[in-house]
Amino acid sequence: MEIKIVKTTNLKEKTKEDALAFGVHFTDHMFMMDYTEGIGWHDATIMPYGPIELMPSSMVLHYAQEVFEGLKAYKTPNGETQLFRPQENLKRMNRSNERMCIPQIDEDFVLEALKTLVKLDENWIPNSPGTSLYIRPFVFATDPFIGVRVSKQYIFMIIMSPVGSYYKGGMAPERIYVEDEYARTVRGGTGEAKCGGNYAGGLAAQQKVSTKGFEQILWLDGVERKYIEEVGTSNVFFLIDDVFVTPSLSGTILPGITRKSVIELLKHWGKTVDERRITIDELYEAYQQGRIQEAFATGTAAVISPIGTLGWKDIEMTFNNGEIGEYAQKIYDTLYGMQTGNVTDQLNWIVKI
Ligand code: COI
Repeated sequence: MEIKIVKTTNLKEKTKEDALAFGVHFTDHMFMMDYTEGIGWHDATIMPYGPIELMPSSMVLHYAQEVFEGLKAYKTPNGETQLFRPQENLKRMNRSNERMCIPQIDEDFVLEALKTLVKLDENWIPNSPGTSLYIRPFVFATDPFIGVRVSKQYIFMIIMSPVGSYYKGGMAPERIYVEDEYARTVRGGTGEAKCGGNYAGGLAAQQKVSTKGFEQILWLDGVERKYIEEVGTSNVFFLIDDVFVTPSLSGTILPGITRKSVIELLKHWGKTVDERRITIDELYEAYQQGRIQEAFATGTAAVISPIGTLGWKDIEMTFNNGEIGEYAQKIYDTLYGMQTGNVTDQLNWIVKI
């Protein structure tokens, strides 16, 4: 399929790089294509960024048949533009699509569309430390119908946003609280899919912890309420007795691309990584025995977020004296260094545009 390109005649003013927050500003262009049952994907177009028309009856607005992805583009010191493992995002998008009964996308075609869009707006990629261009592909059901069934029409889009740190405090260690009332998902649910509903369902818990003076939630499993699953919108790692422990992908945990990259990187460094179930009681016991060296969360948006304090009932566990751990820093420096072309990409993760 050919991509039609309609360029904007009204280039927007860019925000100063030192004032960039996460996800507030958007570039000049966006990508859009339609799906119609019996025809497939069609009308792939890059067009000026702006509002879209939707019928109020569009199914996504009622039943949340939707999937999204998040990845980033970076500028190297030589002015080259590069992406980090974009094929992994598109593969995951198709797995999420399958779960949400959304038609598969052609991963090679979408990667080409994404590269074309990034190239067109590459002067939006910031290059101050800690910044990048966040790319948000997403797909949603557009049938004008309010019965509950699988939609027959969809829109797939890509929008892009120059971003600074995801959290206001940058890499400052976070205060996290163990959520024991709400659950993010259960086995057989949609926890493994990157669909908007998972995030909407987490908002009440997020609101609750912020009133207690914490920044994020640590989610436990939804059945036994004891196995550690994720932190906020990220995966989580604990360094216990020199072993990096991260919850195994059990069907309820988002298979993070940063998670996967951190595991591969640690193994490449000769470190031991144990993907297994870990309970909050086991973690607390290890904490009391002084065996937890570090804790951090991983995700595309925030990259690495050290966990300074973990609240659980009326207990507060502080890791690494509430400071950024050695490995949290080293992993961040290596990943962000590779992404921005300042560290050699020995693992072949970079895709140049
Ligand atoms: C990411 O880290 O990529 C995320 O999915 C967070 C996003 C919901 C802002």
